[in-house]
Parts: sequence; structure tokens; C-alpha cells
Amino acid sequence: MLVIKNLTKSYSGQKRSLENVSFAARPGEVSVIIGPSGAGKTTILRSINQLISDDDGQIKLDDLDIRQLNRKTLKKVRHKIGMIFQNYNLIDPLTAIENVLHGRLGAKSTFAGMFSLYTAAEKKEALTLLEQMGLKDFAFKRCSDLSGGQKQRVGIARALMQHPKIILCDEPIASLDPKSTTLVMNILRKLAIEKKIIVLINLHQVEIAKVYADHIIGLNKGKVVFDDRSEKLNTAAINLIYS
Ligand SMILES: Nc1ncnc2c1ncn2[C@@H]1O[C@H](COP(=O)(O)OP(=O)(O)OP(=O)(O)O)[C@@H](O)[C@H]1O
Ligand SMILES: [Mg+2]
Repeated sequence: MLVIKNLTKSYSGQKRSLENVSFAARPGEVSVIIGPSGAGKTTILRSINQLISDDDGQIKLDDLDIRQLNRKTLKKVRHKIGMIFQNYNLIDPLTAIENVLHGRLGAKSTFAGMFSLYTAAEKKEALTLLEQMGLKDFAFKRCSDLSGGQKQRVGIARALMQHPKIILCDEPIASLDPKSTTLVMNILRKLAIEKKIIVLINLHQVEIAKVYADHIIGLNKGKVVFDDRSEKLNTAAINLIYS
């Protein structure tokens, strides 16, 4: 379980981007953070991964307090955190399978990583993951030649290659058409339910959040103003979040 308590963050001297943010995200569930632009959604995800410093509060992933780890342990924990981005963050000149294999890098020695020394089992796993994403025929295509929806599914396969405990998604469907949106959101939901991964997604689209989320966190100006089951998100709550 991911438990965040009183997370507070100011970017160098500016007013607080996050103020006493507390919520929990459970394995087997899709948790979605919604809120207006600038509410602090990305800042929360970056704090969980400790990509930003100078924050305050507690971020616990199972028994580990992520903010208190030494560098070596943090590297190990980061490897258990899969990240999915709006712009996919793939290496375009490389093939889909090469990008997926990159998900293993964090588990390898620097030497093996430097020379892209992957085992036969790892290659097989990468191929299987691409198959599960419906991309069997695209495994050896360059990512630059894939559509947005296909790229995002490569991104998900790469995250799964890390055997993550948690997948953090920052606007994963913002660049996708409705058909790809449905495909990607269904995949993320399936991962939560079948693999018991904690899935935490930042979204702009309230309607999509209501369909796919079990649990919704509403953020307004850095504060949690809603934290409940998705069916409880009524008009009053939406107005409060987007006020
Ligand atoms: N690197 C930074 N330096 C200074 N301020 C920042 C930085 N990153 C974000 N902020 C500020 O922190 C606040 C929260 O930003 P954040 O990116 O987390 O919002 P968001 O909810 O993800 O917005 P969006 O929906 O537009 O992606 C905003 O006021 C933003 O201007
Ligand atoms: Mg953002």
C-alpha cells in the first residue's frame, strides 16, 4: 500500500505547491488524482519517485519510508516504481522490444546495462509483454514508426518489465484518441486487478476518472479536497475540486 501523510512542497521560495497532502492508494485498485492545471498532480507523482527534493511529510510504500532512504536503497525502490508519461518517454530510434528491455536496466550491473546484455529469458518476457499489449507484430519496429496509442502500450510494457509494485501515470491518455484511450485505460485497470499493482493516475478528464477509477483524489491548489470512492464524486465535489 502507498500511504502519503502531510506531504508539503514549495518550489524554491514560491508559495506551497502541495500542502499537507494525505491519502492512500491500495494494490488491486485504480486511484486517480484529478484537479485543475497547477493543482499539484505532477508534483505528487514526482515526490513519490523522489525526483524532487525539499519536500516534507511521509511517503510510505509498504514498510519503506521513501523520503528516508539512502541512495542505494532508493535506487532499488525506484526500480519497483513504473512510470508512464503523457509523451511516452521512449527512445524513438530503438525498436519496441529494445525499449521494453530498458525496463530491466535498473536491475542490472552497470556493465551489463552499458552493453545491453539481456538474457534470453528477459527477451522472451519482453516479447510476451508486447504480445499482451496487442503489439506482437510491432516488437521489431522502431518506436518512431508507431502511433501514439501503440507507443503508450510500449511504455506500459516497459514499466511491467520492472516488475513494479506501483505504476505512476502522469496524464497517460492526454495525447490519445478515444479508441486508444479506452485500450490504455482498460490495460491499466486490468494490471491493478489481475497483478495487484498499485495504479495511481493523474488525469484531466473527470468522465474518464469516473469510469475507470475505484478511488478518486481531488486536488485544488495543492490541497486534497476530495478523497473517496469514485461513485461518491458528485457535482458538488467536482465544483469544489475545480473551483
Ligand atoms: N520546477 C518547478 N519550479 C517552480 N514551480 C513549479 C515547478 N513545477 C511545478 N511548479 C508549480 O507547482 C504547482 C503545481 O504544479 P504541477 O505541475 O504539479 O501541477 P499539475 O496539477 O500537474 O498541473 P497540470 O495539470 O497543468 O499538469 C504549479 O503552481 C506550478 O507552477
Ligand atoms: Mg501535471
